[in-house]
Amino acid sequence: MEITRIRSGHGDPAAIEALLPELLAFDTLINRASGLGEDFDPNPEDLRHSLTSTSRYRSYLTWLGRLDGVIVAKGVAELQLTSNTDTAELWCGVHPDHRRHGLGSALLTVMEDDLAAEGRSALTSYCEIPESVRTADLRGAHLAAETGAGTLPAAAPEVSFLSRRGYGFAQIERCSVAPTATAAELDLDADDDYVIETWRGPVPEERLEHIALLKRRMSTDTPGAEKFGGEESWDGERVRALDAEKKARGEEMATALAILGGEPAGFTQVGHSAARPTVGWQGGTLVRKEHRGHRLGARLKVANHRSLAEHSAVERVYTWNAVENSWMLAINDQAGFATWAWVGLWTKDLR
Ligand SMILES: CC(C)(COP(=O)(O)OP(=O)(O)OC[C@H]1O[C@@H](n2cnc3c(N)ncnc32)[C@H](O)[C@@H]1OP(=O)(O)O)[C@@H](O)C(=O)NCCC(=O)NCCS
Repeated sequence: MEITRIRSGHGDPAAIEALLPELLAFDTLINRASGLGEDFDPNPEDLRHSLTSTSRYRSYLTWLGRLDGVIVAKGVAELQLTSNTDTAELWCGVHPDHRRHGLGSALLTVMEDDLAAEGRSALTSYCEIPESVRTADLRGAHLAAETGAGTLPAAAPEVSFLSRRGYGFAQIERCSVAPTATAAELDLDADDDYVIETWRGPVPEERLEHIALLKRRMSTDTPGAEKFGGEESWDGERVRALDAEKKARGEEMATALAILGGEPAGFTQVGHSAARPTVGWQGGTLVRKEHRGHRLGARLKVANHRSLAEHSAVERVYTWNAVENSWMLAINDQAGFATWAWVGLWTKDLR
């Protein structure tokens, strides 16, 4: 297998454009084989972004494996550039007709060597297993996450592959989906002084620092956060840059922010794009430690879903939560979420 590498923003633009249809077809094939459903098909703008982004906060490396000139394997690593510069989140996939011939191992070896050479030694990866696949194998051997909460079938190709390659199964997340219409029927109003604002699109100027603070806390105040890197550096400028990046790739964010006495108490965000207008993707949700216990998580999500139902074409929202985050799962159950898939989060230290 011939392996080539593209660093985002450094490839020949014409060659990248010419490559996109083949890569999109490859990613679509991998997704269809996974059983996750068409909502998870690749978004052309996200794919283009991963190859062309020149953001100073985040970049991507893409590895392509070819046999006789045809793409049979692909790997991607996301690299943070202003904090956590020794980490990388990676993923690789092999064409279903070419699995079990060592191609995945060969590609992952090259990816790890390249990342190590750049000082990226704290690696994370993930695998996504549909609920139907997991429940079909409840009697087989299961591998427990290091948190002690949740298991994945040991015989699943991704689980077996990552274990064999020395990755530790750190944590499991539940991916669930809710219709936005459910929120309209819920009444979570409370008799307190929290005010919930919602907006769609870029963060308003006067809220930039509030969202930056909440994003900083997101990287430290969630279960297991320390396993996946340290505090991320966020300021108003970075929030604005992220909004500009999202706009450029056709993604709009719907945000709900809770405020008490002018101070930000918590927020939640859902992204959606014109390419698949009925589908929303939950971004971060955080209620600051000192504001927990007021059902703000559920109130924020319900407010955001109502705003989406009223002002956008989004009909359903997918979300991910660590299974030990029982309070967030309870919030999601209240907001109408049902299990769709299980996501294994894996870590490997190359040092
Ligand atoms: C996971 C994946 C990349 C493996 O690619 P691959 O080319 O088949 O992997 P390899 O042939 O190098 O397999 C290496 C080892 O992984 C394990 N493994 C891989 N597929 C397996 C399967 N279907 N059943 C059991 N073990 C398996 C085996 O231990 C294998 O070694 P062996 O063949 O000597 O027994 C491929 O199944 C895939 O593309 N899955 C979808 C994408 C994905 O989920 N990626 C997440 C991982 S980053």
